[in-house]
Amino acid sequence: MIRPILFYPDKRLREPGKDVEVFDAELHRLIDDMAETMYAAPGVGLAAPQLGISKRLFIVDVASGEDEPSDLRVFINPEIIAAEGETTFNEGCLSFPGIREDIDRAERITVRALDQDGKPFELEAEGLLAIAIQHENDHLNGELMIDHLSVLRRRLVHRSMSKRAAVDAAQ
Ligand code: NI
Repeated sequence: MIRPILFYPDKRLREPGKDVEVFDAELHRLIDDMAETMYAAPGVGLAAPQLGISKRLFIVDVASGEDEPSDLRVFINPEIIAAEGETTFNEGCLSFPGIREDIDRAERITVRALDQDGKPFELEAEGLLAIAIQHENDHLNGELMIDHLSVLRRRLVHRSMSKRAAVDAAQ
């Protein structure tokens, strides 16, 4: 089931997520819904707080080509335990439709997380996967791409998103 995605400046996007403790059918249903919602958008990542669910859970799939098989990865209660290097990428976010901004991130990371069955794993990532993991991980802490921008860019993006919210509210 496709679920509605919250748009900035919705305050729920600022709530830090709580650890997932139960790995049951309901969690699997949520993950299925998140994947369906992400692919429909389309996007390369989606975090539970973007659906108004304050849980430490996100998914990413950076396989972009139409012929490429999907590469869905699920991260639950994740922790970035190592980060090195620096890279800049023109990022978007499903909670900021139409906005793309250059954002600095670590180039390589190591993340420790649980999979959908609660099994721990560790992953070293670089490139787009590392960027997507850092972006989605921010969402679990109530942090958003706008927080990485200069004061001026932040003000411009805030104004543009607030205007959009006002138009949506009037409809
Ligand atoms: Ni995002």
